[in-house]
Amino acid sequence: MANKNPDPEPLARRVVRKRRPPPRSARRARVAAASAAASPAGFNPLTAFPPAPPPQDDAPLLEPRAVQFGGHSHVIRLLGPADEGRLISFFNSHTGETIHQRYGYRISEMTHERAQRLVGVDQSRDVALGVFERATDGEEVLHAVGRYLLDATGRSAEMAFVVRETKRGLGICTALVRRLLLIARARGMSYLFAQVQADNTPMLAAFRRHGGRMRPIPGADATEAFVPTSIPSGSGSSGLP
Ligand SMILES: CC(C)(COP(=O)(O)OP(=O)(O)OC[C@H]1O[C@@H](n2cnc3c(N)ncnc32)[C@H](O)[C@@H]1OP(=O)(O)O)[C@@H](O)C(=O)NCCC(=O)NCCS
Repeated sequence: MANKNPDPEPLARRVVRKRRPPPRSARRARVAAASAAASPAGFNPLTAFPPAPPPQDDAPLLEPRAVQFGGHSHVIRLLGPADEGRLISFFNSHTGETIHQRYGYRISEMTHERAQRLVGVDQSRDVALGVFERATDGEEVLHAVGRYLLDATGRSAEMAFVVRETKRGLGICTALVRRLLLIARARGMSYLFAQVQADNTPMLAAFRRHGGRMRPIPGADATEAFVPTSIPSGSGSSGLP
């Protein structure tokens, strides 16, 4: 199935290359092939996790939801075209290290076109969630984004996350991981995956908490994480975030 997502960027940190990545079609094919193939150790994400139940109504999972982080009220909701300015402001708050971890190479500017693509995804296919807080002037401020993008097989999707530096360690990423897993499960997927730098402790911890299995990427200081959509009961996060 052709990937119609308009986001041309790699979702997660591209740890195996320093230069701008090849065309999206090549990237997607490579990731899909890597996901489908059994590793030398015999781990195959397509068979390692229990199959998801038949697709169910995902509408309740797409509704905005109020959540407390650090004692403050936030809302998790889908990103939409009206969030373009908020996304640009959020991007402009990132340190170089955050941009590098999220995108894998230097992006100096969040252009109007790129921001439009990132907020304007087809949410019935891919998912882009934001965590917002209302400022004293009444404006919503975007503090975090979690998204997934279906791979070329249409049977799984690649996740990526970014949380504002001043909002980290509050469980925001964990809540986004959980919500994406629940949506993916409702849509019939058995796992989601990501590429993560080997020293990205918080990201790997969030995936492990949800039963994620890691597969080192040969020749790179990086790991592929495969996370089942059947959220473990002991994860402390089985409810809707
Ligand atoms: C990775 C990132 C998204 C985590 O966001 P976050 O909201 O701070 O994460 P959470 O608060 O949900 O914490 C997730 C886990 O990391 C742990 N953690 C949080 N901060 C940590 C720190 N500084 N050091 C070690 N562990 C940490 C938490 O305890 C939690 O683990 P647990 O479930 O075992 O308790 C955030 O650091 C970020 O935006 N990094 C830059 C972009 C990036 O690396 N994206 C990943 C590419 S896919």
